[in-house]
Formats: sequence, structure tokens, C-alpha cells
Amino acid sequence: KLKGCLNISGDKSISHRSVILGAMSIGQMEIHNLLESKDIMSTINILRKLGVKIKKNNEVWIVNGVGTCGFKQPNQKLDAGNSGTTSRLMFGAVATNPINTTFTGDKSLSSRPMSRVTNFLEDIGVKINLTKNNYLPVSIQGTQDCLPLKHIITKPSAQIKSSIMLAAINISGKTSIIEKQATRDHTEIMFKYLGIKFEKKINKNGQAQIIINGPKEILAKNIHVASDPSSAAFFTVGALITPGSNIEIKNVCLNKTRIAYIKILKQMGGNIVVKKIGKLSGESIGNIKVKYSYLKSIVINKKLAPYLIDEYPILAIAASRAKGVTKMQGLSELRYKESDRLKSIHENLIASKIDSSIKNDDLIIKGSCEQLIGNNKITTYHDHRIAMSFSILNLICKKPLKIDNLKCIEISYPKFEQDLKSILDNG
Ligand code: S3P
Repeated sequence: KLKGCLNISGDKSISHRSVILGAMSIGQMEIHNLLESKDIMSTINILRKLGVKIKKNNEVWIVNGVGTCGFKQPNQKLDAGNSGTTSRLMFGAVATNPINTTFTGDKSLSSRPMSRVTNFLEDIGVKINLTKNNYLPVSIQGTQDCLPLKHIITKPSAQIKSSIMLAAINISGKTSIIEKQATRDHTEIMFKYLGIKFEKKINKNGQAQIIINGPKEILAKNIHVASDPSSAAFFTVGALITPGSNIEIKNVCLNKTRIAYIKILKQMGGNIVVKKIGKLSGESIGNIKVKYSYLKSIVINKKLAPYLIDEYPILAIAASRAKGVTKMQGLSELRYKESDRLKSIHENLIASKIDSSIKNDDLIIKGSCEQLIGNNKITTYHDHRIAMSFSILNLICKKPLKIDNLKCIEISYPKFEQDLKSILDNG
């Protein structure tokens, strides 16, 4: 069972944004509780190649900003590793600087779509070369003469929105961004916190519109990164499905666009108590208490997909222990993550003797409270969230699961195993 109190690492989305905006600001920014994972190191290493001085002093990261148009011409390719957020956000950040850059990535990232972002940057006048029109390596010929345009984003993706927002800071005139469906809003929150003025309004049809009247200057301001709610989700489900568990996770980011999974787990019967305690650099934070619970199935509407996008793998584990049939609808975007997550979740559930099926883009899981034997292989496809989700399922298996790759957890949460061990009570 899981018992005790836990402080988990900083949020991945906020960490990326804090180093990028620190680099684009004037002055020195201190970042506290920055997530020190492989994805964040990819962003830091790219920024260093662009001439930004970033160092760690005791537990604090210090970024010496170069301004919104101060990136230097790099003499090497920019390797985004496994990180979609690094590549897509950095495309927008470099697009308005008069430099030529080439972005590369690992095998997984090189098979993920990039034109969803670069199409918008081409519209504003940036010359971009993609591999097979959609993939890394991507070469960008940045320009200071970008156009202020109105962009309508149809795919729900915070990465697309954020990329355009980062470009807009350095464009003269009014850039306007309309999202058909709202996505996570960390970029807006950090803009506000750093005093980068913009307008956000809700149009008559209910769609949000962001207006940035550039160019803007950013003055460095220290940032404290709230703990990652997506990482907290693993222990939350771990405690819910492991008899006798009772845990508390502290100082977690409670941004509304990130904690839809808590609402879902509560509707499934989860005993979860959330207490808001305040704000950290513009983001709401609080403590989450979780006890072992008898779970029941649920139907999750596709409208919620943007707010659950990183939590479906661990929600699938919860569903596998819930009485009845859980339907997760409209998961097409899951196919474009670090692995084809719809496939990787389903295949590994089946391998673990859990009743799972895919119908179009829906994942259907029949839960059971019978003892799981375990001992089967889990194929992670080097996907950190698949590795962590099945590490949680492993807690309730009679014999250990043979997870083929635990190292990939370093992508988002190097302290995962250490934190899990700290609350594991074998007594
Ligand atoms: C992220 C947005 C999400 C999410 C990813 C991080 C971000 O991707 O899956 O882990 O930091 O903006 P999309 O917005 O592309 O779905």
C-alpha cells in the first residue's frame, strides 16, 4: 500500500515556459523547483546553443536573458530529443529572430507531426523546410519582418497556441489567436505573471481569443514552479487501486486545465480531497489527499480530451480496476504523442489480461477487481507515461510486470521511482 506525504518535482509545461521566457527576457531570472528531466534539459541545451547563459547555483537555476530578439546564430543543429514541447515552442521563439536554425529529434519525435505549428509560422512570413512536409529535421529561416495576423487554431493543442504567442511578442502589430477549443493556459498565466500585456476575451460563440499587440519587452522576474499534476496522477491512481493506501501530495499545480482527471476519478468513486493553499508565480497550488477506493466505470466525453491528454494512460489503469465498462471517447490526438498511446495503452492492457478494445478513436475497458497475475511483458515504446502507468499497475500484480524500459521515465520524472519507494509501505 501507499502511505505518507510526498512533494513531487516541478511541472513540465511550466518548466519549459519558464526557461524559454527567461531566455527571452532582459535581466537575470531565478527559477526555483525547475523540473530537471531530459525534456527540460533539451530546452536548456537548445537555448545555450542560441547563446543564452543558463547555470545552476545550489538548487536554483539562473537564466541570463538575451531579450526577445537576441538569439545568436547557432553553429550546430538544435536537438529537441524526445520533447514535442521543446521543438514546437522553440520554433515560435526563433522564428522572429534573424537566424537560421535546424531542429532535430529522436526517433519518436521525428515521427510526430510538426506542420500543425509550422503552417502558422509560414503564414507570418517565416521560411521553413520540413522533412516530408511534416517532420523533423525542420529548418527555419527566421525574420524580423513577421506579419501580425489573425490565426484560427482548429486542433486543440497548447503547443500550437504557445508557439504563436512566443512569436507574437516580437512582431509589430496585432496578433490574434482564436482557439476552437480551449487548451492548457500556462503560457497566458506566465505572460500575465511577467507583465507581458495581452487581451483574452471570449467571443460570442464561446471561443477564446488572445490578442497580443507587439512588440513586447520582457523584464526578468523570478519564477517558482508548482509541482506537476500529471506526475501526481500516477500516485493518485496508485493509492486509489492499492488496498489500505492513504497519501497526501503537496504543493501540486491546480490549474483548471490540468486537473480534470481528479474530477473524473472522483466521479468514479475515488476518495480524493483537494485543498487549495494559494498561488505560486500565478498558478494555483494545493494539496491532494487520496485513499484507497472502490471504483466504478465512467464514460469520458471527447470534449474533455484536451484537459486529460497526458492522463489517459493512468486513467486506463484506474478503469481496469473499476466495476463496469469505461469508455474514453475521441482519443485521436493520443496517436501523436511520444508513442501511439491509444495502441500502447490497449496492447499492454491486453498483455496484462485486462479486457480492452478500440473502436474508432474510443478506448473501451472492462474493469475487474480480480487479482492480476502479472509476470507479463510491458512494451513501453520508450514512452515515459506508459512506463509509469504500468509501474503503478505493477503495485497490484501478484508477480512483477516485466516493463521493457524504465529509463525512459527520465523524460518527465527522473525521481519517479525514488518518490514511489518513499511512500511504499510493505508492512
Ligand atoms: C503540452 C501540451 C500538450 C501535452 C504536452 C505538454 C504543453 O500537448 O500533451 O505533454 O506544455 O503545452 P498538445 O497541446 O500538443 O496536445
